[in-house]
Amino acid sequence: MVIHLKKGFQLGVATAATQIEGGELNHSWNDWYHKGNITDGSNPARANQHYEKYQEDIQLMEDMHLQIYRFGIEWARIEPEEGVFHQATIDHYRDLLIRLKNANIKPLLTLHHFTNPMWFEQKGGFTKKENIALFLTFVAKVVEELGDLVEEYITINEPNVYATQGYFFGSWPPGEKSAKLTMQVMSVLATAHIQAYQLIHQIRKDKNFPNWDQTRVSFANHVRAFTPKNPWNPWHQVSCKISRRFFQDALSKAMCLGEFVFPIKNISGIKKGDYSDFHGVNYYTRTTVTGFKDGVRENAPVNDLGWEIYPQGIIECSQQLYDMAPKPIYITENGTCDDKDCFRSRYIFEHLKALTQSELPFERYYHWCFTDNFEWIEGESARFGLVHINYDTQQRTIKKSGNFYTDI
Ligand code: BGC
Repeated sequence: MVIHLKKGFQLGVATAATQIEGGELNHSWNDWYHKGNITDGSNPARANQHYEKYQEDIQLMEDMHLQIYRFGIEWARIEPEEGVFHQATIDHYRDLLIRLKNANIKPLLTLHHFTNPMWFEQKGGFTKKENIALFLTFVAKVVEELGDLVEEYITINEPNVYATQGYFFGSWPPGEKSAKLTMQVMSVLATAHIQAYQLIHQIRKDKNFPNWDQTRVSFANHVRAFTPKNPWNPWHQVSCKISRRFFQDALSKAMCLGEFVFPIKNISGIKKGDYSDFHGVNYYTRTTVTGFKDGVRENAPVNDLGWEIYPQGIIECSQQLYDMAPKPIYITENGTCDDKDCFRSRYIFEHLKALTQSELPFERYYHWCFTDNFEWIEGESARFGLVHINYDTQQRTIKKSGNFYTDI
C-alpha cells in the first residue's frame, strides 16, 4: 500500500474540549447528562481527563509524529459566569499552546464545539440574535489572550448538526423539536460566524500579533454526500436536493459568502463578501435519500454506528464547496467509529488516497479523533480514537490504526 502525499500536505488529529477534558462544569452537556439523556449513562465530567493529562497527551502526539492539531477550548471554563473570565483557565490554555509550539505541532483552535455555558443557554443560546454579542465578547477575550500563539481558527463547529440535533430532532440539548427554531438558529449561527471572522482578523491585526497577516479563519462544515436511492425516481431526486439545501448548501453559502438563501435569513444586514479563508470540511459518510430522513444504501459497508463508509464522498463534498468558492481545503474531521479497530486503518488509507488523487487544493487532514472520547449522546461507548482510552484507569494505548497513521 503506497500513498503519495503532496508536498506541503500536513497530517494531524482533531479533538473537542467537552469530549476529552472532563470536569464537573456548568454547561449544556453536563446538564444533558444530569437529565438522563446519555444513552450509555456515561458522564462527560469523566471523559479523558485531558485537562489534567494534557502534557502526557502532547507527548503522545509527538511520539506519533503529528504535524497539526485541531482542538477546542471550553467556553464554560473560561467564562463560568457572564462577563467573568477565569484567568487560571486562560493560563492553562496558554501553557498547552506553548507546549504544542515546542513540539512543533501547529494549532487550529475551535472556539465553539456544540457546548454552551448554562448562563448562555438560559438566555436562549443561539436562538436569539441579541446573544451573538455575548459570544463575540468571549471570542474577543480568547483572541486577545491567546492570539499571539494561534494563527488559525474555527469559529463554530458544524452549525447544521448543532441546529438540527438540538432544535429539530431534539436529541441534543436543549431538546427542542421545531423547524422554525432550527432555521432561526442556523441564521443566528451564520451571522455569529461572520462577525467572529471579522473580529478575529481585526484583533490579531490591531495587536500586531506575530504573523497577523497569516491569520486564517473558517468554520467546520459538516457535509454529507447526498444521493437519491433511485436516481430515476423524481421524488428521491427532489427530496435529495431539498435535504441538501436545508442541511448544508444554504448555510455554507451564507457563512462563506454572506449570500442568504432560503431557509437562512439575513438577520443583521450582512453584506455579500468573503468570510472564510479556507474550507473546513468535516466528512464522515453518505446519505441515501428516499424522503426526509437519513438512509443508508443496502449492503453498503458501514461503521459501528451504521454510517456508510464511502471514501469518494470526501471528494464530492469538497468539490461542491470549491465550486461555490475556490479556496484551500482543510479536512477538519474525518474518521470512523470502530470499537475493535478492525477497519480504521483501511478507512484512513482509502480517504487519504482519494485526497491525494484529486486535483483539489487539500492542505491539511485532521483525523477524528486523536483518542477515544465522550461521543455526545453515545457517551463512552462509541470509539473513534487512534489512541485507546481505558476510562477506568485513564490509560492511553496507541491502537494499530494509530501506528499505521504514524507510519504514513
Ligand atoms: C463532531 C464530533 C463528533 C464526530 C463523530 C462530528 O460531527 O464534530 O464532535 O464526535 O462527528 O460523531
